[in-house]
Amino acid sequence: MQDKQPQPAAGGTADFGFTQVPVAEKAVLVRGVFDRVARRYDLMNDLLSFSAHRLWKRIFINAVNPRPGDRVLDLAGGTGDIAFKLRERGADVVLTDINPAMLGVGRDRALDRGLADIPVIAADAEHLPFRDGGFDAVTIAFGLRNCTDKSAVLREARRVLRPGGKFFCLEFSRLEVAALAPLYDAYSFRVLPWLGGRVARDAESYRYLAESIRTFPPQAELARMLGEAGLKMVAHRNLSGGVVAIHSGRRL
Ligand SMILES: C[S@@+](CC[C@H](N)C(=O)[O-])C[C@H]1O[C@@H](n2cnc3c(N)ncnc32)[C@H](O)[C@@H]1O
Repeated sequence: MQDKQPQPAAGGTADFGFTQVPVAEKAVLVRGVFDRVARRYDLMNDLLSFSAHRLWKRIFINAVNPRPGDRVLDLAGGTGDIAFKLRERGADVVLTDINPAMLGVGRDRALDRGLADIPVIAADAEHLPFRDGGFDAVTIAFGLRNCTDKSAVLREARRVLRPGGKFFCLEFSRLEVAALAPLYDAYSFRVLPWLGGRVARDAESYRYLAESIRTFPPQAELARMLGEAGLKMVAHRNLSGGVVAIHSGRRL
């Protein structure tokens, strides 16, 4: 499997897919990716995951299991899938993302669903504009991989949780069955960029998607990072044989 260990941002560099770039440049490059894909993001998600992302997100929401009235902060929420589902379960959700183009699509979708009252706020998950302890739960789905300083995101998530509140992360992870790796690699590094080129006219962004999955910390490493950020009762659960994983931790 074309695995590369995540490179720490030490020495002033961060991973952008398989390329090391100056720390300050990563956010600009990631912004470019999501500026380009925003309008076709939801269509491409269905196409590239054979709609599996819908199932993963449903299982994720069941794991979060908000009670009506719970205050939930969705980080890197993009076009709103997670926020809308949390809201359907009665949560008092805030949709945030760093990218105005993604949030713009999210706002339109919220209007279409009659959910225009969901607060939509541009926010960098590494520096949250929220007070300490204000949320019952914090969620991030397929977002942490794109952040430059992942530990800062985890620390911020913990900070804005109330004592007893819970953090949940849904992200691509590592396959449990190594024998499937060649197939997964072929799909990731050949089919994804090809489809991205054909449908979204943007092979490069989808090459970044495949590479960023491989440089993201594997299950045990991410669990360790949650613990380092001060979260307790850290656990993870693989979905689809480890294609994705749900990590969770609690602020005590
Ligand atoms: C793959 S999308 C996920 C969107 C949505 N959560 C979903 O599951 O469909 C990743 C999102 O992360 C956002 N993002 C990247 N870096 C971020 C940061 N530092 N703070 C907040 N959002 C960020 C991007 O703008 C993008 O919308």
